[in-house]
Amino acid sequence: MCAGMADFHGLERGLTNYGDPDFARFLRRSFARSTGVSPELLARPVVGIAMTPSGFNNCHRYMPELVEAVSRGVLAEGALPLAFPTISLGEVFLNPTSMLYRNLMAMDTEEMIRAQPMDAVVLIGGCDKTVPAQLMGAASAGVPAVQLVVGPMMTGRHNGVRLGACTDCRGFWAKYRAGTIGTDEIDVVEGRLAVTAGTCAVMGTASTMACVAETLGIALPDAAAIPAVHAHRLVAAEQSGRTAAALTRRPIRPSEIITRESVENALRVIMAVGGSTNAVIHLAAIAGRLRIRISNDRLNEISDETPVLLDLKPVGSGYMEDFFAAGGVGAILRELRALLHLDTIDVRGRTLRERLDEPSAWVDRAVIRPIEDPVSKHGGLVALRGTLAPDGAMFKRAAATTALFESEGRAVVFESLADLSARIDNADLDVTPSDFLILKNAGPQAAGMPEAGYLPIPKKLARSGVTDMVRISDARMSGTAFGTVVLHVAPEAAAGGPLAAVRNGDRVRLSIASKRIDLMVDEREIQRRLHELGPLAKPERGYRALYQRSVLQAPQGCDFDFLTAAAEPPAAPHDI
Ligand code: FES
Repeated sequence: MCAGMADFHGLERGLTNYGDPDFARFLRRSFARSTGVSPELLARPVVGIAMTPSGFNNCHRYMPELVEAVSRGVLAEGALPLAFPTISLGEVFLNPTSMLYRNLMAMDTEEMIRAQPMDAVVLIGGCDKTVPAQLMGAASAGVPAVQLVVGPMMTGRHNGVRLGACTDCRGFWAKYRAGTIGTDEIDVVEGRLAVTAGTCAVMGTASTMACVAETLGIALPDAAAIPAVHAHRLVAAEQSGRTAAALTRRPIRPSEIITRESVENALRVIMAVGGSTNAVIHLAAIAGRLRIRISNDRLNEISDETPVLLDLKPVGSGYMEDFFAAGGVGAILRELRALLHLDTIDVRGRTLRERLDEPSAWVDRAVIRPIEDPVSKHGGLVALRGTLAPDGAMFKRAAATTALFESEGRAVVFESLADLSARIDNADLDVTPSDFLILKNAGPQAAGMPEAGYLPIPKKLARSGVTDMVRISDARMSGTAFGTVVLHVAPEAAAGGPLAAVRNGDRVRLSIASKRIDLMVDEREIQRRLHELGPLAKPERGYRALYQRSVLQAPQGCDFDFLTAAAEPPAAPHDI
């Protein structure tokens, strides 16, 4: 019997209720014996391992090895590892969009943690929506939890140049659309973009969420950037198992780790690494589970104070393997030290101050810049507001064209995703490089908010050398994408936001200096147009009907209204 075991419930937690607790205990023990595990091990505290392997999720290809390494750590620390599956979301294999299923995975994770007898849990995820879903579920379940990510892919090579999914996927596809490379070359590139297991090789959503998890303190220090195929990834898995087993003796709940202060720290790191716009939605959803709200004003303050320090694609030039070799999240946190809340605690019960007081390892300054000499002086993301987006919109200034920051253009409107694909490449499309491309009805209620906000440059303009235009939508954009793109317009068109009122030829003004996006149409005319619109078509049944009925807008993280803690009446939320 390991030390302190009498404090734990192990497999006797949450007995099934047959009206006879002794029978329930007896029945559970006898069925547990059928696993072939010895009674001595079955009597240990239990660490659940939420695993997410799937033939439809290439990023999680090494999941079995990670589960084995976590189990090794749990056993070594005197607890019993029990792995269990939840749904898995492979970003590019889901229709209409993985975002539609993030909340389903969060519900699956929360309910399985709560329903099954475990004293702590290790969550293994990685691909874009999986880590947010796991953290949302774990925050609500309230069981001590450790997040482990699968780690990023290594890069491939093409004609002597490094390639990584998926910024380079987009770069090469844009060249193909523009006619500067042909079918033979794009076919070869297709096999060289995603060459190992692991998550996208740049600072996309998966990498950003890995950095968020480490900064929040719910993942182990220095674990975010270790490549999927690196031996250190397995060591991190083993240590995650050990840490979770230790949590069965000294429980620290997710609510003690994910606090107003650690959420602010995570926002700073998103800014400093040039992180994905999606991470803001996911962080809002995770924080919302614990009654913490992120205001756009605070986000902008943090962005204005926090420089971009990391030279990684899509903002810069490197890849996640470079970030790992350069010093990882720890090196970023050291540079940001003066701006951080240092009393936050991590899964090991250590404060951020204690972590940062440790001697620093070597840092590659070509990749992680000192705060005095940043990649850019301000953070990567800006929240916009204005007559086109009364509740806000998001703009990734670090990956946009500065010449377009203060601009006004004529609206070229696409009413839906179907309309966009039908007309964007029409030779007779009335469009010029200075126009603003507007996409409606791609928001959470209308379409599950796909990553369609990176509207393609119309082929006829691309072929004449146009590489960027202002694009505006209620959709999201892949964290690996780049361009002058206004996203997450709220309220979305389908929820009656002014975006629904935009018509071809209207003037729209973008001002990053004033943090505004405005429809230059009289307010009464906007309201008149909105009143003319018909109701949104509703799915008849099933999860999609539940989704459309319950999903909140981007500023609330697109969580379900019945899942956020903010939906509960008492106690004021921790606005930041
Ligand atoms: Fe899985 Fe990019 S497709 S992280």
